[in-house]
Amino acid sequence: MNKIEHIGIAVTDLKAAGELYEKLLNSPVYKIEEVASEGVKTAFIQNGPNKIELLEATNPDSPIHKFIAKKGEGIHHMAFEVVDIKAEMARLKNEGFVLLSDEPKLGADNKLVCFVHPRSAGGVLVEL
Ligand code: CO
Repeated sequence: MNKIEHIGIAVTDLKAAGELYEKLLNSPVYKIEEVASEGVKTAFIQNGPNKIELLEATNPDSPIHKFIAKKGEGIHHMAFEVVDIKAEMARLKNEGFVLLSDEPKLGADNKLVCFVHPRSAGGVLVEL
């Protein structure tokens, strides 16, 4: 685990949230991307070596829609940069963490991703 790559924030209105975070961080949204497989539209803002990923649901089955219905808008996940995602997945599995997929999936930013179940990670959804 090299560093925090980004923090994911669930929002109801990507445009309004993008404007808010642009003001907060004094940095522009540099990319908007839809990840159809996850039912989300994302906006990225750079903050030093890290990023903020804003996530808006694109359909009612989206995990983001369910998250906001349950907990409201706010921090959704923390993503850590890893060198070898498959090796890291194997290491975490071996340590007893519950992974949400057996293979890495293609996520936003054209990166391979895998999520660790919050139940096994102290209530925090962790993304590799
Ligand atoms: Co993410």
